[in-house]
Amino acid sequence: MVTSSRLPGFYKLSPSERLNTVLQATGLEIGQLGAVLPADDQMLAIADRMIENVIGALSVPLAVAANFKINGKDYLIPMATEEPSVVAAASNMASVARIHGGFHASSDQPIMISQIQVVGAPDPHGARLRLYERRRDILDLANEQDPFLVKLGGGAKDIKVRIIEAPGVSHVVLHLIVDVRDAMGANAVNTMAEALAPLVSEIAGGRVRLRILSNKADLRLARVRAIYDRDALGGEDVVNGIIDAYDFAVADPYRAATHNKGIMNGITAVVLATGNDTRAVEAGAHCHAAASGRYTSLSHYEKDTNGNLVGTLELPMAVGLVGGATKTHPVAQASVRMLGVESAQELAQIITAVGLAQNTGALRALAAEGIQKGHMSLHARNVAIAAGADGDEIEHVAARLKQAGNVRLDIAQKVLEEVRAGAG
Ligand code: MEV
Repeated sequence: MVTSSRLPGFYKLSPSERLNTVLQATGLEIGQLGAVLPADDQMLAIADRMIENVIGALSVPLAVAANFKINGKDYLIPMATEEPSVVAAASNMASVARIHGGFHASSDQPIMISQIQVVGAPDPHGARLRLYERRRDILDLANEQDPFLVKLGGGAKDIKVRIIEAPGVSHVVLHLIVDVRDAMGANAVNTMAEALAPLVSEIAGGRVRLRILSNKADLRLARVRAIYDRDALGGEDVVNGIIDAYDFAVADPYRAATHNKGIMNGITAVVLATGNDTRAVEAGAHCHAAASGRYTSLSHYEKDTNGNLVGTLELPMAVGLVGGATKTHPVAQASVRMLGVESAQELAQIITAVGLAQNTGALRALAAEGIQKGHMSLHARNVAIAAGADGDEIEHVAARLKQAGNVRLDIAQKVLEEVRAGAG
């Protein structure tokens, strides 16, 4: 129980002063909270520049997925995740996809949408057309905010004006359509939207409220296709099992949420490893999954004439190579270097390929042996550690749990007691 959650001036302190304040407020010892401190002091300084109120940093395992060939090019793919089996499943499916040429990917131009909401316009339909009549003025003012982006070939390209009917009122909403080049683009489009507010308000004759990007980045879709060899997948029954699983996800939102979570296991891991915004990509993905008005599978599966499995995936992919944590976090920079990507579009395609591989890997396991078998080794080790096993005890306890076919904390604790008593 903390004495108080009021921490006046906390934000002004250094990370170590903040940690001391937290120790005092919680009554905990440094030994109980010291794990928040990264081994490298420099990391603490970097973290302190990235967000507010920093006291430490959280390390998530960073792994490399192997076997990926995308558009004829080989990649080693950095994945940051805490979940066992994810990297192994992606690597396995990439090796199956390689048999028929790997992944074939494409993507839209890096176009983001910023929304400007106008409330109280007396004539929403008239306002909508007046905004279109001033399209050029609106785009010019937007582009004055970011001459560098314009020089790179990006910038505000178009507008779209919608009337959104809310209960009892009509809002006029202007979409500013911006090519953000190699950025994720949130800063660029939000700056433009804020600068446009007075002009849009004057033209529309109402008050501007929100000025913010939309995470429904559906003008920035990435697509990927792969042919998975029937025999390498495990034969016709496994292929049919995957298609049955896909049909289930298409028809049932309860299953679709889990199916798409499997896709995001791969996508989020690469998005995080490259310092991109995991929540933006996730919001875009799930919104896209409901684009038809009913939440459904993001991926599609079918059979080719030889009975191989054809997998496809298309979703918004708002990721960048410049700005944000991609530029400030040394691990994100290392990840981008490892990938050797040259554009945000190339990165988007890679991430989408990992999403498809991940999804196919999960469905293959579910259609064949189930996922627990693959999870078992790492899970058993994690449960052994949670039970208090240390050093050699970890493998010992994990092996006994696997042997028993029951990976439970209470059993692990019992086994650990036996191991320590010399009976293991
Ligand atoms: C677990 O993190 C992901 C799966 O549940 C995905 C799926 O069911 O398709 C295995």
